[in-house]
Amino acid sequence: MTTALITGAAGYIGSHITVAVLDAGYNVVAVDNCVNAISGDGTIPPAIQRIQEITGKAVIFYKIDVVDKDRVREIFSKHKPDCVIHVAALKKMGESVDIPLEYHCNNIGSLLTLLEVMKEFNVTKIIYSSSSLVYGNIEYIPIDERHPVGKSCTNPYAKTKYFCEEILKDTCVANKDLTAVALRYFSPVGAHESGQIGEDPVGPPSQLVAFICQVAIGRRPQLNVFGNDFNTADGT
Ligand SMILES: NC(=O)c1ccc[n+]([C@@H]2O[C@H](COP(=O)([O-])OP(=O)(O)OC[C@H]3O[C@@H](n4cnc5c(N)ncnc54)[C@H](O)[C@@H]3O)[C@@H](O)[C@H]2O)c1
Repeated sequence: MTTALITGAAGYIGSHITVAVLDAGYNVVAVDNCVNAISGDGTIPPAIQRIQEITGKAVIFYKIDVVDKDRVREIFSKHKPDCVIHVAALKKMGESVDIPLEYHCNNIGSLLTLLEVMKEFNVTKIIYSSSSLVYGNIEYIPIDERHPVGKSCTNPYAKTKYFCEEILKDTCVANKDLTAVALRYFSPVGAHESGQIGEDPVGPPSQLVAFICQVAIGRRPQLNVFGNDFNTADGT
């Protein structure tokens, strides 16, 4: 049976992808360092536990940093994945301006590690979680795949997504066997229909809907609405 290695599997998008991949009949080896996912009691993050409950299938989970080549190599050696779905990344735009090196090391470093280990183990399929931010300032809508990318990425996080796409392109040119897909997510919203998994970041959410949800369930007291000179009824 085909085995997919899914990075960032305890996070928001990764947990939903893991459910879909399991439902499609593949084996999953899930990894996450829980930098932005609740890690639980240290054995298995609650999101992974819930994925198992939703799908009725077992998930092999490792709490590792995907930048750590030795650990990634151990997992490839033990589980022989057929493909990689690379979802793990740091993703807060504002934070990336304050700590750009962490963002570049984590987001670019993790992709480089995976591509190097994939090459060692002759794994030739990768799906990469990119972002609509690679489009920078939008020149026309609807945006299509011919829209320029990388010209006006305004923060380090966006740049890491653009650079990673370029790394994938260069690697595919050099290795004709490699197949890479970059999914340019916009801002996904919503949760699994079971209500068991959804967006549950560590610390204050960076996205409006996640923030609203935390206010709705009483985890945060209020939502501040900003602005006073926009062209709206009350200027907010
Ligand atoms: N949510 C969005 O609106 C959005 C939009 C565009 C792109 N993306 C991209 O989609 C991906 C997933 O986003 P998300 O919203 O699910 O974020 P998330 O923070 O919920 O999930 C990312 C997961 O990766 C883990 N992680 C980060 N660095 C790691 C590392 N070095 N090793 C192991 N695990 C690591 C985190 O602990 C987290 O669980 C990211 O690559 C992000 O850049 C998200």
